[in-house]
Amino acid sequence: MQFNNLLLHIDQGVGVITINRPKKLNALNKETIQELHDAVKSLNASKDIRVIIITGSGEKAFVAGADISEFSDFSVQQAAQLAREGQNILFDFIDQLSTPVIAAVNGFALGGGLELAMAAHFRVASANARMGLPEVSLGVIPGYGGTQRLAQLIGKGRALEMITTAQMIDALKAERWGLVNAVTPQNELISHCLSLAEKIKRNSPLAIAAAIRAVNANYQEGVQGYDVEISEFAKCFGTDDFSEGTSAFLEKRKAKF
Ligand code: COA
Repeated sequence: MQFNNLLLHIDQGVGVITINRPKKLNALNKETIQELHDAVKSLNASKDIRVIIITGSGEKAFVAGADISEFSDFSVQQAAQLAREGQNILFDFIDQLSTPVIAAVNGFALGGGLELAMAAHFRVASANARMGLPEVSLGVIPGYGGTQRLAQLIGKGRALEMITTAQMIDALKAERWGLVNAVTPQNELISHCLSLAEKIKRNSPLAIAAAIRAVNANYQEGVQGYDVEISEFAKCFGTDDFSEGTSAFLEKRKAKF
């Protein structure tokens, strides 16, 4: 696949997508959002890809937000369409993907950039990373799921502090607040994510997909998470992965998924 704004590197079952607009601090324009959708969709469709890592090019920014130059003159209707389409094709799409997605936050993750990182299944940051939702300083609010996912991840009080002050937090505070799972030196960020990917790759992809669906059920309106867990748990018993995983354990060998 050819992209104008992304680099794609596939190695040993891991797809690393690098958002590559360094002169604009990797800001998400419409084309980049579409390309991210296409890249994630095609990696997810490949049985050989077991983990996806998303990062930004350069050492300064993961993603410095949605591209402000594209929407500064939008009407109310255009804004609604922008947010809805973005949520559908990228942010919710990643959130609900069956392949685990790790955001490797290598610098500024602001606005849509932090929203992208939060749509991933979990996040690791480099020590220089800074994160924030500065939208209210522009007279707008987050529109790609930020008001929902930030509160889910770090709690309402901290989320509203970040959103209303429009201030950034550094990587260590983000770790303390549970926004990122770990902080690494910049030059170890991708290797740390790859080592997590190695651990994920040992496990059943069907069970991992089921676990993502069950965990996500907690955040879906009108859905009973415990019921989804029961049904996903039961469905696992009908899979080859379950036969292989349990046989391998009883035969004292490593499972091959
Ligand atoms: N949309 C469009 N362009 C952006 C951008 C964004 N979200 N973030 C950065 N850029 C562009 C700048 O306009 C600049 O382009 P130029 O060289 O053509 O003028 C380039 O990226 C470099 O950014 P600059 O502001 O010069 O870097 P800096 O080191 O001085 O500041 C930031 C870095 C991240 C603090 C600053 O770029 C910033 O505040 N960006 C906007 C963050 C934001 O509000 N995001 C939420 C959007 S809803």
